[in-house]
Amino acid sequence: ARTYLVTGAASGIGRAAVARLRDRGHTVIGADLEGADITADLATAEGRTALVARATELSGGRLDAVVACAGIAAFDPLTIRVNHFGAVATLEGLRPLLAASAAPRAVVVSSVASIHPADEALVAAALSGDEDAAVTAAQAAVDRGEGRVIYGSSKQSVARWVRRTAATEDWAAAGIALNAVAPGTVVTPMTRPMIDDPQTRAVVDGAVPMPLNGHAAPEQVAPLLEWLTSAENTHVTGQVVFVDGGADAVLRGDRT
Ligand code: NAI
Repeated sequence: ARTYLVTGAASGIGRAAVARLRDRGHTVIGADLEGADITADLATAEGRTALVARATELSGGRLDAVVACAGIAAFDPLTIRVNHFGAVATLEGLRPLLAASAAPRAVVVSSVASIHPADEALVAAALSGDEDAAVTAAQAAVDRGEGRVIYGSSKQSVARWVRRTAATEDWAAAGIALNAVAPGTVVTPMTRPMIDDPQTRAVVDGAVPMPLNGHAAPEQVAPLLEWLTSAENTHVTGQVVFVDGGADAVLRGDRT
C-alpha cells in the first residue's frame, strides 16, 4: 500500500480519487478548504506552507504520490492563484517528501480548456513564476470583460509547467514521474450549474465536444489518476493525458 496526498479532496474529481485509492487499501491524506484531513487555502502563501507542514507531520516525511486536484473556475484572478500557483506550490513543496519514496509519482489536473485560446501575457507571467504579474494580467483580462479566459490560461500554464519541469534533475532524475491529466466536462459541483442550464450547457458542449460517451463522472477520471501515480507507471512522464471523450481529437486532431 502507498501513501497519497490529494488536494481538492472534499469534492468532485479529488473526492472520487480519494475514494478509489482508499478502496484499494492505500493511505490517503486529503487536503481542501474544509472537510479534509488538512485544511489549507492554496490561494495563499500561508495555506501552501501549512499544507507542506501538515503533510510532513501526517505522512512521517514520505509520500509515494501527490494528486493535485484543487481548482476553481471563477472569472477572477483567484483562479490563477489556485489553479497554477497553488498547484505548483503543492508539487514543489511536497517534492522532498516524494523523493523519500521508492516509486514516487505526481499528477495535476489540467483541463481540455488548456487548448482553448489563452491570454498569452497571463500564461507567460505564470510560467515565469511571477504571481503578482499573473494576478495583474488576470485583473486586466477582467477589466477588458474577458475574465473567462483566465481559467483556460491557468490550465494551459500548469500543463506547460508540467512539460517543462518533468524532465529536470529534481523530477525525472530523482525518479519522480510528473504528468497532467486534461479532463473534458466532468459532472461535479463545479460544472453542475452550467450543465443544468440548457443555454450554458450548449456553450460548454460547443467548446468541449465529447463524442465518446458524453460528459464524464468523476469516477471515470479517477482510474487514470490512480494509474499515472501507481508504481506500475515507470515511463510515462511529462505528458498531458486527455480524458475527454474525444474533445482534443475533435478540436486539434491534425496535431500530434
Ligand atoms: P469541485 O469544485 O467539485 O472540487 C474542487 C475542490 O477544490 C473543492 O473541494 C474546493 O474546495 C477545492 N479548492 C478550491 N479552491 C481551493 C483552495 N484555494 N485551496 C484548497 N482547495 C481548494 O471541482 P472538480 O470539478 O472536481 O474540479 C477538480 C479539478 O478538476 C479542478 O482543478 C478543475 O479545474 C479540474 N477540471 C474539472 C473539470 C470539470 O468538468 N469538472 C474539467 C477539467 C478540469
